[in-house]
Amino acid sequence: MEHFTYAQGNLQAEDVSIATIAESVGTPFYCYSTATLVRHFRVFKEAFQDVPALICYALKANSNQAIIKTLAKEGAGADVVSEGEIRRALAAGIPANKIVFSGMGKTIQEITYALEVGILQFNIESESELEALSHIAQRKNKTAEIAIRVTPDVDGGTHAKITTGTKISKFGIDISQAPALYQKAASLPNIAVKSVSCHIGSQITALEPFQKAFSRVIDLVKDLRAAGHTIERLDLGGGLGIPYDGDQTPPTPAEYAAVVKNLTRNLGCTLMFEPGRLIVGNAGILVSRVISLKKTPAREFLVVDAGMNDLVRPTLYDAFHEIVPVKIPKADTRRTFDVVGPVCETGDVFARDRVLPVFETGDLIAFRSAGAYGASMSNTYNSRQLVPEVLVKGGEFSVIRERQTYEQLIAQDKLPNWL
Ligand code: LLP
Repeated sequence: MEHFTYAQGNLQAEDVSIATIAESVGTPFYCYSTATLVRHFRVFKEAFQDVPALICYALKANSNQAIIKTLAKEGAGADVVSEGEIRRALAAGIPANKIVFSGMGKTIQEITYALEVGILQFNIESESELEALSHIAQRKNKTAEIAIRVTPDVDGGTHAKITTGTKISKFGIDISQAPALYQKAASLPNIAVKSVSCHIGSQITALEPFQKAFSRVIDLVKDLRAAGHTIERLDLGGGLGIPYDGDQTPPTPAEYAAVVKNLTRNLGCTLMFEPGRLIVGNAGILVSRVISLKKTPAREFLVVDAGMNDLVRPTLYDAFHEIVPVKIPKADTRRTFDVVGPVCETGDVFARDRVLPVFETGDLIAFRSAGAYGASMSNTYNSRQLVPEVLVKGGEFSVIRERQTYEQLIAQDKLPNWL
């Protein structure tokens, strides 16, 4: 069920009018629907309810406390990539024994902190990280349960900047080198080999890459067991894509689950997943106001008050976000626009050659599917304030992050004593 719908021509999040929120918090702002968020989590969870499974929400997609807490209450664990994310997960009520620490360059401080709070699993990215973990765990007199993150050399067919499972990726250990590293792990003090992990990329819209990658990883599990290792858990990462426009139909969680369950039948592993985008992507929109319309000899621009600092995905990945009116205009005239923000960068473009209703200055528009990697990747470039985030539940809404004030923005800088 869709929870961003129109009532008498006005866009709503559940039962709350977007225009009302805009009046209250100003623009731009992110708006999330609790019902969508919870539904997405449940759909994924229910797809695996007949097998032992732990769903660790990938905090990087959206790390607002209110979002994490909503998911924590649904039983979610957390996939984290930094100490900051561990702290956010714990603060939102996710127990340490449901936290898996992925993350490409874990520092000594981060490893120490993760050991102190007692997370479930470290996903190892390199031999030196494994050695460092063993060393720190000995010092702290703790045992670290590990998976080695393997790279199965499968191309997920997604954007190059979010592909992680190929040989040239900086992530993981090449699957051919994994047996030797597991051997080493087993010999290191205070390390407990428990699991294998992989994550081949994000916004993957076909099942074949998953099928191919997981088959290779399952073969590895069997080889590792034959070599005497105990593999109790299998962490299959995140990456299942979402529809960003009406034409795309990525596999459903149920279809994805059917493939996974078929492959892992009789394996006797607890399955772990790290979905981010799938849970929160379509649960959020970015609302913005039209500042001006500008016609040049070459193009027509719609200038809006959100910029690439608020939602960087179009700039960084050429990502498509559907743009819809908050109030459906009376006249059904449409023209082709480039939708751009106010940031001083040529790349500050949300959409090129997009056929849209002819908006007027002051109109509100919404970028759909902005719940994942929107607010969490935002920044203050051009000294623009971080925008508010609003969570809707039924007929209620609540500001879950205030708009940053200019005072806060400037107070982050400190002057040296010679100035
Ligand atoms: N697990 C690991 C180890 C990951 O690296 C990622 C995403 C996930 C899980 C979650 O993947 P998801 O289910 O969300 O696809 N900023 C980019 C996406 C970067 C994804 C990074 N890793 C974007 O906006 O498209």
